[in-house]
Amino acid sequence: MNAITKFRTLSFMFLTAGAFTFLNAGITTTLHNLSATGTGTIKADATEMNDELCSYCHTPHGASSSFAGAPLWNKGTMTTTGFTMYGAAGVDLAGSTIAGTNTDQYVNSQSLACLSCHDGVSGINSIVNAPGSGGYVAAGAYVDFGATAAGTAKTMPAGITQIGKDLSNDHPVSITYTVGAASLVATTTALTGWVGASTVADLLRGAASNKVECGSCHDPHTSDNATFLRKANTGSALCLGCHNK
Ligand code: HEC
Ligand code: HEC
Ligand code: HEC
Ligand code: HEC
Repeated sequence: MNAITKFRTLSFMFLTAGAFTFLNAGITTTLHNLSATGTGTIKADATEMNDELCSYCHTPHGASSSFAGAPLWNKGTMTTTGFTMYGAAGVDLAGSTIAGTNTDQYVNSQSLACLSCHDGVSGINSIVNAPGSGGYVAAGAYVDFGATAAGTAKTMPAGITQIGKDLSNDHPVSITYTVGAASLVATTTALTGWVGASTVADLLRGAASNKVECGSCHDPHTSDNATFLRKANTGSALCLGCHNK
């Protein structure tokens, strides 16, 4: 093998290794690895559907249409009603911020996807298309999961990871990003060292790519930063990515 061939072979090996391990290595060591190998306490046990990392959230076929904003979503239907939005006077009403920007009346599907496990009511073990031959249930079915038997919902226990259905004490989501309001920077502003984003525009979601949702601040796959943050919040760097305060 001459030097150039050797260099090409080595480069190829590094590139392919990077391509194949990037996402997987990230999620494996996080609390979102719900297979038996997961590091958390909420996960499948060795006797269950436990050898796949993605299937509690995604499916290659037959994905749920009730979460249009979440790619190939593998969780059963869930109601969009019953949430209290940030700054809202009550349930199922649009809220308002100090700058006067209204939240949407209902949580958008991008954030609903997270809340389909984090609302404390929906089943973490709800699956539309279980891995393997067959196993498709359009409305979703509760699979056997840890100490929870098949047919029973395993819900998020009380604590800080249970965001709940009251979003009035959480940073606004399903809200339009209005440049200038609350000192929000231009959407073309470059971001350095963020997971999956090189400008503020990359953080925004929805049909018009102008909404802040859970995925604006979190990447549910990453182990780069604690609590799945797209940028470590050292010196409040995450907040300062959008707010020029
Ligand atoms: C805990 C739930 C969860 C698990 C587990 C999960 N994902 Fe995701 N994934 C999401 C959500 C939510 C989004 C949308 C994120 C956003 O809006 O940025 C997403 C987006 C994606 C995207 C498109 C956006 C991007 O970041 O490239 C790909 C590709 C993807 N996931 C692949 C995977 C693969 C492969 C696995 C398994 C190794 C996996 N996901 C496991 C929740 C999950
Ligand atoms: C399939 C179910 C599921 C989905 C979907 C899901 N999560 Fe989680 N998430 C969990 C579980 C289970 C935990 C561990 C909770 C615990 O142990 O208290 C967790 C933990 C977390 C944590 C805490 C991490 C830590 O290290 O402390 C964050 C942050 C989080 N999730 C954010 C999100 C966001 C944002 C989304 C959507 C983009 C999302 N999750 C979607 C199941 C899910
Ligand atoms: C504006 C940015 C932002 C948005 C939007 C956002 N989060 Fe977070 N989230 C954070 C930050 C920052 C932390 C870490 C806070 C801390 O260390 O206490 C966090 C922490 C969390 C935690 C872990 C709490 C803990 O202390 O273990 C969960 C779970 C979580 N977020 C879920 C969500 C969900 C679900 C949504 C959408 C409904 C969401 N987040 C929207 C910024 C955000
Ligand atoms: C992805 C961009 C983004 C990030 C990152 C972000 N915010 Fe925001 N924030 C917004 C948007 C959009 C609003 C709504 C502004 C408006 O009123 O129009 C907002 C509003 C606020 C408000 C005002 C709420 C009100 O009632 O007027 C506060 C306070 C705030 N954010 C704090 C934070 C903090 C603290 C962080 C870091 C943990 C953070 N934000 C990270 C986009 C972001």
